Amino acid sequence: MKSMCPALSLLCFLLLGTGGLAYRNSTGEESNKSNDYCNVYSQYCYVQKHIYNVTHLQCYETIIDLMCWKIFNNGMHSLDKGKWCTWTNVSSLYSNFTQCTERKADCLNIPWPNNLIENHFVLLHSKYFNNCNFFNVYRDPPEKIVLALILTPISIIPLMVALVVWKTKNCKTGS
Ligand SMILES: *[C@@H]1O[C@H](CO)[C@@H](O)[C@H](O)[C@H]1NC(C)=O
Ligand SMILES: *[C@@H]1O[C@H](CO)[C@@H](O)[C@H](O)[C@H]1NC(C)=O
Ligand SMILES: *[C@@H]1O[C@H](CO)[C@@H](O)[C@H](O)[C@H]1NC(C)=O
Ligand SMILES: *[C@@H]1O[C@H](CO)[C@@H](O)[C@H](O)[C@H]1NC(C)=O
Ligand SMILES: *[C@@H]1O[C@H](CO)[C@@H](O)[C@H](O)[C@H]1NC(C)=O
Repeated sequence: MKSMCPALSLLCFLLLGTGGLAYRNSTGEESNKSNDYCNVYSQYCYVQKHIYNVTHLQCYETIIDLMCWKIFNNGMHSLDKGKWCTWTNVSSLYSNFTQCTERKADCLNIPWPNNLIENHFVLLHSKYFNNCNFFNVYRDPPEKIVLALILTPISIIPLMVALVVWKTKNCKTGS
């Protein structure tokens, strides 16, 4: 295993499917979820923890960066910049990112949303959606918009979290 995959990288785990035979039974401490989707991640984090002393949350962050954040960024950059504020053009990327972080957290028994995810969402919003009306409008949220957002079929929690943080920040800087 080690010689096949010296870096024990996440990519390597993914290529080997279930992380190879060597760690097949190593999910116990990391997760009580056992399925093909989750095993890769819990086994990866088990190895990271026991060989490199990487904490569970650090491991989660690595996975999020590689598997979710990167896809979102690439997706955004493959879109025309002028489309970044058009919700119909970014909603699929956005909800995929949300789901991605949620599923991985679920695999690793990490509560979701969590601080790390909130930070990612704040970063995401400041990077891409800073000047978008669909968020500015939230400075003075009419009930209709809140209702519309809640009824939107995407996972709304991180959006709400990000918006609350966002709003607090805007108020503090006195905009
Ligand atoms: C290891 O996993 C196999 C199935 O993948 C299971 O049958 C076996 O009981 C497990 N062993 C331990 C020690 O958990
Ligand atoms: C999985 O873990 C969670 C919390 O750690 C617990 O509430 C749940 O009952 C566990 N599920 C199983 C099937 O053990
Ligand atoms: C692992 O890391 C923690 C803090 O991140 C440290 O307290 C501990 O001593 C480390 N263990 C080993 C074996 O390096
Ligand atoms: C963006 O959305 C518009 C409709 O709102 C659609 O016509 C267009 O094809 C979309 N572009 C991309 C790149 O998804
Ligand atoms: C979002 O995920 C779905 C299902 O995996 C996929 O079909 C779709 O292409 C993804 N959207 C984007 C913009 O990557």
